[in-house]
Amino acid sequence: MHRQQISSIAHSGHPIAAPLSDDSVHALLDRALPHGEARLLDLGCGSGTWPARAQAMRPSLRADGVDIDAGAIAAARRAADEAGLGDRVAFHTQDAAEFTSPHLYDVVVSVGATHAFGGLLPTLKAAGRHLSPGGSVLVGDGFWEREPDRATLDAGFTADEYVDLATTVDHVMAEGWTPVYGHVSTLQEWDAYEWSWTGDLSRWALDHPEHPDTGQALEAAAAHRDAWLHGYRGTLGFVTLLLRRTPTP
Ligand SMILES: C[S@@+](CC[C@H](N)C(=O)[O-])C[C@H]1O[C@@H](n2cnc3c(N)ncnc32)[C@H](O)[C@@H]1O
Repeated sequence: MHRQQISSIAHSGHPIAAPLSDDSVHALLDRALPHGEARLLDLGCGSGTWPARAQAMRPSLRADGVDIDAGAIAAARRAADEAGLGDRVAFHTQDAAEFTSPHLYDVVVSVGATHAFGGLLPTLKAAGRHLSPGGSVLVGDGFWEREPDRATLDAGFTADEYVDLATTVDHVMAEGWTPVYGHVSTLQEWDAYEWSWTGDLSRWALDHPEHPDTGQALEAAAAHRDAWLHGYRGTLGFVTLLLRRTPTP
């Protein structure tokens, strides 16, 4: 079973692949999206939930989503077709770092995909190249709610992977960005995400006892649950920032 197949099943009940509730997604998009004609780009769009929700909220919006995972892009196209979004939303199977477009975008989204660019600050640099003057970036990334302990590091993280929330925002501002809104995922949002991730994968395995991948799916769910409950729960945070460029004097 490929990592992408595991991820696809694990996210079936929580289409946003990040610890964000539907209400949080709505509130963030509502603040980010201009009214009237506008363009949105999602770098690392997964199954295209952010562009699809944005389009539903602002029907005159045009959106592009980019992801390196062909399976996720196929799912995004299917969902957009079923929702009747037509050619207002386009999806591209590509490395987001190499994506080029004839357009500039009013909103550039990249949530939970900073690893595609090598971290938060390089993600902002890449997003900035696609941004129209006065546009906004909506970026979601991890931070340390508290110093990572041995159990968190054993769950597959390195201590220098993130910094605390205040330092995260300091770094973003030092790169020339001003936060105009933000959302720190609650423990409830984290728990809903992780129970859904591990639960949907486990349910799939239990519902398909004869499938050759059943054992592997149960093992992957158990390993993820262990890393979460014995490791990073309450230590790994997630912040989604709505940013605009700070004017230079
Ligand atoms: C945690 S998921 C987040 C998906 C989506 N942004 C969301 O919030 O639902 C991270 C996504 O980044 C994509 N990704 C990773 N490396 C990438 C790259 N180099 N270029 C484009 N997408 C990439 C993965 O395929 C995955 O779909």
